Amino acid sequence: MRILGVLNHKGGTGKTTTAVNLAAGFALRGSRVLLVDLDAQGSVAAALGVTYTYTVTDLLLGNAELTACISPARENLDIIASDRSLIEAEGALWRMNNHDASRLQLRKKMRGLKGYEYVILDYSPSISLMGQNGLLYSHELLVPVSMDYLALMGTRQVISTLKEIGRIQNHQLRLTAVIPTFYYGRLRKDREVLDTLKRYFKKEVTNPIRANVKIAEAPGHRMTIYEYAPNSNGAKDYKQLVERVADYGTKAE
Ligand SMILES: Nc1ncnc2c1ncn2[C@@H]1O[C@H](COP(=O)(O)OP(=O)(O)OP(=O)(O)O)[C@@H](O)[C@H]1O
Ligand SMILES: [Mg+2]
Repeated sequence: MRILGVLNHKGGTGKTTTAVNLAAGFALRGSRVLLVDLDAQGSVAAALGVTYTYTVTDLLLGNAELTACISPARENLDIIASDRSLIEAEGALWRMNNHDASRLQLRKKMRGLKGYEYVILDYSPSISLMGQNGLLYSHELLVPVSMDYLALMGTRQVISTLKEIGRIQNHQLRLTAVIPTFYYGRLRKDREVLDTLKRYFKKEVTNPIRANVKIAEAPGHRMTIYEYAPNSNGAKDYKQLVERVADYGTKAE
């Protein structure tokens, strides 16, 4: 089971879009996938049009068993939804006096999860205990970077987080992909940001996800990009990313 976290500390870099369309892409290839929303904005269930009873908050607060918190979304694709109640869970984590335990709750609650080839976590941009719980549960990080300076800064923060986690918590976390998003190949600025990323990260940088209006429209229709606009550049770019991340798994293991 590969556990992939989609993280950038900058807001609006395409984390949720990437988490949803990667998860849906793996599911279309026949893998069983669980997509977990760790953001109180609750965009995952909304984007896929999923109704749910229990959320990740109920899982963390012990209100419901793991299996009850899992909601079916598509063939091969299940989700653990999130909503504003996640703020309560964050509060409860803060009130735990044990520093380590408050960061290991998600890992503890997910123990015993079986039957999935991929678990994908969609993070909130803010640095939170929920986020730390996600990091200590993930094995690999995928970092979407939009083509601007602030997103590059957010990415650098992710890298220091990654190093810190390894050093302080002794938890191995691998950087699997840095994903350029909102890419306009015609803009010199975007080509420059992409070059900077490649100099810094080299082989981790994937092909860019182009700016594409169909990607932005799909969630409003409660659809993945493959359902909403299967022939769009957005669908092409995400399919390519799915293959790349799937391949990385076979090469690295
Ligand atoms: N390649 C793209 N082209 C056009 N629009 C996109 C693209 N990727 C994402 N979007 C749109 O940009 C907005 C922000 O994307 P998204 O919600 O995925 O970012 P995020 O990093 O999850 O944001 P947050 O930090 O708030 O969680 C959304 O409206 C989404 O539909
Ligand atoms: Mg998001």
